[in-house]
Amino acid sequence: MNVTEAVQARKSVRAFLSTPVPEDTIRQILIDAARAPSGGNVQPWKTYVLAGAARDELVKRISDHWAAGNYGEGTEYAIYPKDLAEPYMSRRRDVGFKLYELAGIARDDKVGRLNQMFRNFELFDAPVCMIFTIDRNMGLGQWADLGMYIQTVALLALDHGLATCLQEAWANWHKTLTQMLSIPDHEMVFCGLALGYEDTSAKVNTLRSERAGLDDVKFFGFGK
Ligand SMILES: Cc1cc2nc3c(=O)[nH]c(=O)nc-3n(C[C@H](O)[C@H](O)[C@H](O)COP(=O)(O)O)c2cc1C
Repeated sequence: MNVTEAVQARKSVRAFLSTPVPEDTIRQILIDAARAPSGGNVQPWKTYVLAGAARDELVKRISDHWAAGNYGEGTEYAIYPKDLAEPYMSRRRDVGFKLYELAGIARDDKVGRLNQMFRNFELFDAPVCMIFTIDRNMGLGQWADLGMYIQTVALLALDHGLATCLQEAWANWHKTLTQMLSIPDHEMVFCGLALGYEDTSAKVNTLRSERAGLDDVKFFGFGK
């Protein structure tokens, strides 16, 4: 798979097989992903990796919260701006509707939507969970660096036959994560990532999200 093929092939997978991922594979992915660039080479990313009993314990803790009617702890940063303007709002809605359609959830089915949200916290059955944090005193530039690192993890996973889903949903459980993983107070949870082998029979994994192409690109100095 060349780089273009990997970028084209990466997608958010929301149904995984329970097949375990070898620890060496995960370590190799994270060693290679650290080649991601960062301003001043500060490498501001921190990664917490859970598999096996630790992964199951995390899922159980959120299940218990959910069963008690607790659907989250709130996020420490705004996942989206308060008033998500156009065209961003439409893009967000469009992919959401497509996802619910494939998952067989009607638009007005609030319980169905809640259940789909909960699937995040079962990691869509993925055997591995990564949680990415960053020092609180880091600025916008370092948050961008963190994003590049995570995208590199997602692309490298493909090289090992693995699939991923990035999960901002985990930011909603920063207290549980901080406690369980002993995350220091000076770090903030950005997002999680589900990692495992794709369940290629799952309808939800056929989702192909749209892109705006070159709509938001301005060219200067080309052509006549
Ligand atoms: C930082 C980040 C957080 C995300 N969080 C979630 C999430 O919590 N749950 C989820 O199902 N998808 C999540 N996604 C996946 C996006 O919905 C997805 O990347 C987008 O719709 C484009 O689809 P694609 O990844 O299949 O290309 C997240 C993506 C990113 C980049």
